[in-house]
Amino acid sequence: MRDHFGGRPGLFTAVLSALGLAVLVSMGHAQSPSPSPSPGLGAGAGLAEEHWRLPLAPQGEAPPRWSDVERSLAPRSCGQCHGDQLQQWRTSLHAGAFSPGLVGQLLTFDAEQTASCMKCHAPLAEQHQDFEAARQRGEADDPERRGLAASGNGCAGCHVRGHRRSGPPGRDDGATGQSDEGGPHGGVYRAAWFEESEFCAACHQFPQEYAVNGKPLQNTLAEWRASPHAARGITCQGCHMPGRKHLWRGIHDPETVASGVTARFSADGRGASFQLSNSGVGHAFPTYITPKVVMRAVALDSQGRPLPETAAWRDIQRVVDYTGGQWVERSDSRLLPGQSATLRLPWKGSRRITMWLEVYPDDYYDHQVYDALLTGLPAGGPAARLIAKADKRAAASRYRLFETELRRPD
Ligand code: HEC
Ligand code: HEC
Ligand code: HEC
Ligand code: HEC
Ligand code: HEC
Repeated sequence: MRDHFGGRPGLFTAVLSALGLAVLVSMGHAQSPSPSPSPGLGAGAGLAEEHWRLPLAPQGEAPPRWSDVERSLAPRSCGQCHGDQLQQWRTSLHAGAFSPGLVGQLLTFDAEQTASCMKCHAPLAEQHQDFEAARQRGEADDPERRGLAASGNGCAGCHVRGHRRSGPPGRDDGATGQSDEGGPHGGVYRAAWFEESEFCAACHQFPQEYAVNGKPLQNTLAEWRASPHAARGITCQGCHMPGRKHLWRGIHDPETVASGVTARFSADGRGASFQLSNSGVGHAFPTYITPKVVMRAVALDSQGRPLPETAAWRDIQRVVDYTGGQWVERSDSRLLPGQSATLRLPWKGSRRITMWLEVYPDDYYDHQVYDALLTGLPAGGPAARLIAKADKRAAASRYRLFETELRRPD
């Protein structure tokens, strides 16, 4: 095996194609050919798609009269005047998208492979330039030395093209179009498509031509379009940026998950039952192949200790495998909007049962990706250190929701 991990291309093809991630890269390439917009989004994607032609072109020169803070693409500069957005964004996974799990892999890639990942995780051309410059200096493994790249999916990636700032219609007056160009950063271009779900699609929806058993591995926009939320005009932003907040909470946040699903527990003479419904998630619960959600139940003894031999569970997950050069779907038990699943456990002599939902937001990375990468990387090297950190984080992200004890009715 060792030889395969010798050179960079060797590591790349051996590890990544084993994991199927090379396919993700090629999907990325296929998504990007400019000038034709990314395929598969269908009607209504027009102007947002225009904004999101990946990889993004370099911004070029800012107008000469702009001050340093106006021309800067760094989130902390934007934050000097947009403090609320900076504070919120900092706590989000978009801010953390240039993560150890990503960079640990980029360290083993060439510039082209790196660009194909960065276009979704740190999309500015200037971010890629800064990362390659750090690599040249031998400092790419130090987050302090990666320049703009470190800011991940930052303000400018979503709001700045050719140094023009754009954003949603005016908050108070709904105004669209170019504002007064005499203001800071030459004013702003306000556009209705900032509030459309298609705005999020460039990074959260793969083209249909990469479907596995009819469904691309990232299919969030299509799931949303088929949902009653789309019909009611409730967009991605409506749920993930309420009040225009820059928080983007999702599966990693217990409160967000609890707000999207409904748990019902009941007990009768035969046993206890746990019903889970997707009552308010705007797409499949969960939407990706990476999380695993498990409904769990176990009977307790008279002291309240779990009786492991009684344990029962039901997985809610899309399981895929990369085998023989292609992706295969093993099962898909995710809940589409409106769907429910039920888990029952008979008393079998006990009088108490606990039931809960266990959420593993990073299951696929934790158990498939990082373990395999760690086997291939030179131990103790910079890439292995970053992947080990990501592996620890992924394992620590699991949590429990809705834990409830039910008693046998007399
Ligand atoms: C020197 C202060 C300053 C800096 C720095 C600054 N902005 Fe602004 N920004 C403003 C002002 C003032 C407006 C309102 C402009 C108008 O109404 O014409 C504005 C408007 C906006 C809007 C429209 C939202 C709204 O409130 O109507 C967006 C989006 C925006 N800026 C993004 C950015 C981004 C991204 C950066 C960093 C790359 C940035 N700004 C840096 C001052 C600043
Ligand atoms: C089309 C956009 C897109 C491309 C291209 C892309 N990613 Fe991601 N990536 C995402 C999204 C969205 C998530 C969050 C959902 C998830 O966990 O799958 C993610 C999550 C991840 C994570 C787990 C979270 C974290 O940051 O630790 C890793 C690691 C990762 N990607 C690595 C890569 C690598 C390596 C490449 C290039 C081979 C790549 N990605 C290319 C969109 C993309
Ligand atoms: C992932 C893309 C994304 C990133 C990253 C992002 N924004 Fe936004 N921003 C949006 C969208 C989309 C809206 C409009 C939301 C809506 O109207 O529901 C918005 C709205 C805004 C507004 C208008 C707020 C208002 O109340 O009218 C400002 C100002 C702004 N963003 C600044 C920033 C700054 C500063 C950063 C970085 C700290 C940032 N954005 C990062 C997508 C993004
Ligand atoms: C430039 C690419 C890009 C765009 C545009 C983008 N995202 Fe993301 N998003 C990502 C990546 C990459 C991640 C994973 C970050 C990580 O963990 O490394 C992510 C993570 C998220 C998460 C967190 C999921 C979790 O695991 O808890 C949510 C929610 C989300 N995005 C919603 C949105 C919404 C809503 C929009 C549109 C307003 C949007 N994103 C636009 C790239 C993007
Ligand atoms: C009706 C509200 C609602 C709408 C609309 C919605 N979401 Fe979500 N989203 C949620 C809730 C609740 C969760 C947490 C449960 C979960 O992970 O499925 C979530 C989770 C996520 C996640 C976490 C990853 C995962 O596997 O679940 C991402 C990424 C995401 N949403 C992106 C989007 C995008 C992109 C859109 C628009 C195409 C969108 N969401 C529309 C409510 C919504």
